[in-house]
Amino acid sequence: MSVPVYDSLDKIYDTSALERQGPRYDALVKKFTEKYGRKPEFIARSPGRVNLIGEHIDYCGFGVLPMAIERDVIIAVATTNDDTKVRLANVNSKYGDREFEYEGKDTVVTIDATKHEWSNYFKCGYKGMLERADSLSQPKGMYLLIDGSVPAGSGLSSSAAFVCASALAVIQANNLGLTKQELTEIAIVAERNVGVNSGGMDQSASVFSEKQYALSVEFVPKLKTSLVKLPTVDPPMAFVIANTLVTADKFVTAPRNYNLRVVETKMAALFLSKALWIDNPSDSLKEVCEDYFKDADYRERNPIYDLKRLLDTALTAFPKDSSGGQGYTLDEVAEMTGVPAQTLKEKYMTRFPVETDYFRLVQRTKHILTEAKRVIEFKTTCESPPADAFATLGAIMNASQESCDTNYNCSCPEINAVCEIARENGAVGARLTGAGWGGCTVMLTREDKVQKLIKALKQKYYKKNFPELTEEELDDAVLATKPGSGSAIFVGFDK
Ligand code: GLA
Repeated sequence: MSVPVYDSLDKIYDTSALERQGPRYDALVKKFTEKYGRKPEFIARSPGRVNLIGEHIDYCGFGVLPMAIERDVIIAVATTNDDTKVRLANVNSKYGDREFEYEGKDTVVTIDATKHEWSNYFKCGYKGMLERADSLSQPKGMYLLIDGSVPAGSGLSSSAAFVCASALAVIQANNLGLTKQELTEIAIVAERNVGVNSGGMDQSASVFSEKQYALSVEFVPKLKTSLVKLPTVDPPMAFVIANTLVTADKFVTAPRNYNLRVVETKMAALFLSKALWIDNPSDSLKEVCEDYFKDADYRERNPIYDLKRLLDTALTAFPKDSSGGQGYTLDEVAEMTGVPAQTLKEKYMTRFPVETDYFRLVQRTKHILTEAKRVIEFKTTCESPPADAFATLGAIMNASQESCDTNYNCSCPEINAVCEIARENGAVGARLTGAGWGGCTVMLTREDKVQKLIKALKQKYYKKNFPELTEEELDDAVLATKPGSGSAIFVGFDK
């Protein structure tokens, strides 16, 4: 299936958003025309996402359940056959104009991952797509104007929205005709060029989401998505997103946070492969799990029960006490996994360096296996809702927050405070969403309680911690959200 081409905005956005989005698209086209003296040919659009459940388990191969939001990246594009230059501009003047040249089939474009540079995200999409465009003799020159509304560093996946929209712009400009699946898979790998070893949840949610549905994303044996209808309850359920306004840029803190967590989970998988005599040792906890149960009678297999059993077994296998203590040194991990320290360093810590003295494998394993279980429980609750579906979903979200905080150490005091306030003011569940260490929280409430919840958050969190915020900034920080649609090409403007 390829990315849809639309000529009216109501195919992309909820009716309630059209009043905002119409003028935004008009302004983009106008500004593009003024800047480049030509009209755009199309607009590529890819949204941010909010993850409902399944945090930090995508890179271990376990399924997750995000949904797209209205906030997105839109890129107006015109092409030329006269050259192969790429001209980038952003409606936000904070991001200065950039230009670069196509460097030929092998390199495509050089990305300096040591620099925190906004155009790197575009280059990721550009490089990813053109590296695979074998039949293309020469790519088009491009004129681009970008407008992003996903707050950067907020955990709503501004980076994936940008990379996916960029990749889509390159596909459309060069008539590459790729499917959604190809776009997503390439965008996942391409985004790692900026220096963060991220999983595939964000790109999948950005490309595949549909209005009114959450998206189930599986990664093993291969990327597969399916739509999940949220339960109909009375009064209806609603999700609110609140940004703690603690900026958590994955790129900046990667060696101590995100990239380190990826390494810790891989070490845990290597250790369990050895300790549990896994036939096909793997550094993916999902693959370890599959292998461990592969000979079990299918009648005894139950994904929730399997994860629980694997965790119980894992906890007794780890040396030292099952709390995990301060973690293991690199030499201890080498001993436990049977992989020399030098090999571990080369394989897992060179392209994406980490900074730590200890690797907390027990705590990370606890989080991954229980979180994977929560995703299945959440999905099952949506698919066959029990009478107390609303409370059940809320409890699952709260348990996820607890585990992110205590086992995965990816929460922070501000996230905990926001979740607490939310639960005291009408949210049945509240948790961080995205990588954590700041950024956004997502809460589950009922439609009739949304206003009270937002008011309480403004008074008890924002007014107290950020008294200087304007009303407009406050409305931007805390908002109700609905499942939105994924990537699209928009052509409904005067050309
Ligand atoms: C970031 C990454 C995702 C995922 C989340 C945590 O958003 O890009 O791949 O790992 O963090 O769930």
